[in-house]
Amino acid sequence: MNRQKIATLINADRPMAKVLVKGWVRTRRDAKSFSFIEINDGSCLGNIQVIADSAMADYDLVRKLTTGSAVCVTGALVASQGGGQRWEIQADTLTVISVAPESYPLQKKRHSDEFLRAIAHLRPRTNKYGAAFRIRSELSYAVHRFFRDRGFRYIHTPIITGSDCEGAGELFRITTLDLMNVPTQDAQVDYAQDFFATETNLTVSGQLSVEMFALSLGDVYTFGPTFRAENSNTRRHAAEFWMIEPEMAFCDLAGNMDLAEDLIKATVGFIMENCQEDLNLFARFVDKTLMATLENITASQFERLPYREAVAILERAKKKFEYPVSFGTDLQTEHERYLTEKHFQKPVIVYDYPKTIKPFYMRMNDDNATVAAMDVLVPSIGELIGGSQREERLAVLENRMDAMGLDKEPYWWYLESRRYGTVAHSGFGLGFERLMMLITGIRNIRDVIPFPRTPGSIDF
Ligand code: 4AD
Ligand code: MG
Repeated sequence: MNRQKIATLINADRPMAKVLVKGWVRTRRDAKSFSFIEINDGSCLGNIQVIADSAMADYDLVRKLTTGSAVCVTGALVASQGGGQRWEIQADTLTVISVAPESYPLQKKRHSDEFLRAIAHLRPRTNKYGAAFRIRSELSYAVHRFFRDRGFRYIHTPIITGSDCEGAGELFRITTLDLMNVPTQDAQVDYAQDFFATETNLTVSGQLSVEMFALSLGDVYTFGPTFRAENSNTRRHAAEFWMIEPEMAFCDLAGNMDLAEDLIKATVGFIMENCQEDLNLFARFVDKTLMATLENITASQFERLPYREAVAILERAKKKFEYPVSFGTDLQTEHERYLTEKHFQKPVIVYDYPKTIKPFYMRMNDDNATVAAMDVLVPSIGELIGGSQREERLAVLENRMDAMGLDKEPYWWYLESRRYGTVAHSGFGLGFERLMMLITGIRNIRDVIPFPRTPGSIDF
């Protein structure tokens, strides 16, 4: 007999003569002639209560069971006598798989997020982190389902690359050169001797690659890990994070915004519908306003306004910002939050940013000062999505790269896509961890990643 998941047993609609569960002991309580043992197997938030009778074989071992121990139980699923749960297991046998010593760090009291970060290998055994990582799994599924339902193809773009998409210089280098004895040529590193015979880095975005597939398969997306050596220790930045990047051929900026809004609403809605129990934990213990925030996101029409207007609103704002804002400055989190939380009180899409603060690939507007960029900003997080319509006109693109001082040679293949059958196309990148933070109310990105990578921190 295969083990049954506790999630299935908790939701059973009738008693069962024979069940088999395997899991970890959360608590044990002894009465005179039997013990109550709460077992969790990670399949859901709830535990199942097991009643072990003193007449059972090895009952002396049951009396020694500690929190964190692993057990295998067979028995009958019966209606619970006590309150608090519908079903419990009347045990026939209880096998101790392993006993956790008293030093097990996850005792019954509530632990701080900081403490749990230091034991990231054990934290998924807590209610909060078990719930977070179950939601993370469901959210990935929701993303793939969203795109598949709309006929998008999933493209696996490379992790190791020679190109820099965003041009912000936050690349992690990849090399097999001996760092104690780096070969040089004309006082420069001689990358010709390196593994790929050129400078190589971890990808900061799959966009340039996925654009090639949009211009072949139509509607596509990539969803994978991306890497940025941003040395900013904020609660919203990680060095390794996952990005969802759709790209659509024959699509302008307005169509891009429609897809972004739909994607957020659909994935948030999916979790509200399918992860109620886990989500409730966050609504009760992490963020009391969570459900109102999520309902606001799924119900409201996102505000859309040009960057110029956003700046005007911020300039008029009574609030004193740490960073002053005027045309040409990048919006800081404080500005993004003011727009979404105070001014509009719902998600906001800002578009048509100054060309000076955006990468080379964004489509130049007729004013020659702004590009067809769009950022989706949401309450409490700020920027959740960054995207644009792409520059599809070869000459304009080449001029822009020259003006920015970019070496066009490594981008020869990208430029060829504008030479052969170029069409309007658009896409964006959604930070998966930021979506997780929005959905759970978890405030630190380190707490929605199984093993987070941030400056100075690579344990586990
Ligand atoms: O705005 P970004 O830099 O856009 C791009 O990379 C485009 N090439 C995407 C595209 O058009 N295909 O990043 C997209 C999103 C951000 O809005 C943010 O949510 C997330 O990725 N992000 C990060 N998330 C966690 N840690 C970091 N260091 C992040 N940097 C960006
Ligand atoms: Mg951005």
